Amino acid sequence: MGDFDGKVVYITGVARGQGRKHAIRFAREGAKIIGMDLCDVPSEHVRYPTANRDDLATTIERVEAEGGEIMAEVGDVRDLAFQQDLVKRGVERFGGRLDVVIANAGICNWGKVWEIDEEQWNDTIDINLTGYWKTLKASIPHMLQAGNGGSIILVSSVAGLKAMPVQSPYSASKHGVVGLAQTAAKELGEHKIRVNTIHPYGVLTPMGGEDPDAHDVFENMPQFLPHFTPILGMGMATTDDISDSVMFLASDASRTITASTFTVDMGAIKV
Ligand SMILES: NC(=O)c1ccc[n+]([C@@H]2O[C@H](COP(=O)([O-])OP(=O)(O)OC[C@H]3O[C@@H](n4cnc5c(N)ncnc54)[C@H](O)[C@@H]3O)[C@@H](O)[C@H]2O)c1
Repeated sequence: MGDFDGKVVYITGVARGQGRKHAIRFAREGAKIIGMDLCDVPSEHVRYPTANRDDLATTIERVEAEGGEIMAEVGDVRDLAFQQDLVKRGVERFGGRLDVVIANAGICNWGKVWEIDEEQWNDTIDINLTGYWKTLKASIPHMLQAGNGGSIILVSSVAGLKAMPVQSPYSASKHGVVGLAQTAAKELGEHKIRVNTIHPYGVLTPMGGEDPDAHDVFENMPQFLPHFTPILGMGMATTDDISDSVMFLASDASRTITASTFTVDMGAIKV
């Protein structure tokens, strides 16, 4: 018996990193997974390695190795019609229900407010904020139709609760996600659908650990380093650390929690 037996979970950005780990962990607990990933360069302003179709295939293999079922396709969170079609087909395939949504697909990039260009700003907002709204727009009607309540988790960041220098589009998008989530929480409470944001600090993924621009910033702009210091000096979080919190927020153990900003940040927000 798993904690999510018979439940259906939609996760964006499942090819690797946190999204992949959530897919594996929910499958281990009996959930059926609807997933998607771009598997291509999301923006020319992203410098860390790009996820690809092999990564997505590995996620599918690892979910199936857990005995899980997954319907995962290549697509872009910026494409509302794609997300609507995918979720509709996934819900039909998995018995007409959708219980948990994890808006996770995102990008990160660097540069001072006046030095970034318009495309960098637009790409980041389009994926990290408007893409999340499209995920909710594609999902919520199915949750309402099923009438089982549910839990929606939007992956924000420490940068969604405190401004981070050299990350203005990222920080603005991740703050925006909080407003989106809390509005949805107020609208969905009467339907027993809870909506929360989570706020990780550094997580050991290609975004968190393999971005050459981040290393440049830390080496060449030491005046900004205090903003990137957590209370707990324990290195980066693992993807399992984040899955633990996501699964708590998806479960009935958190049934009283909605509209919260759930920090998984080693105390970084307080520094
Ligand atoms: N890694 C960190 O340190 C960290 C810290 C705080 C918050 N976050 C947030 O966590 C989430 C997951 O990031 P991660 O660390 O797993 O990074 P990651 O780069 O390993 O994974 C992100 C996934 O999203 C996919 N993606 C990007 N743009 C997409 C698009 N337009 N459409 C569909 N898929 C797209 C990528 O292909 C990739 O597979 C992101 O929202 C990120 O902002 C990460």
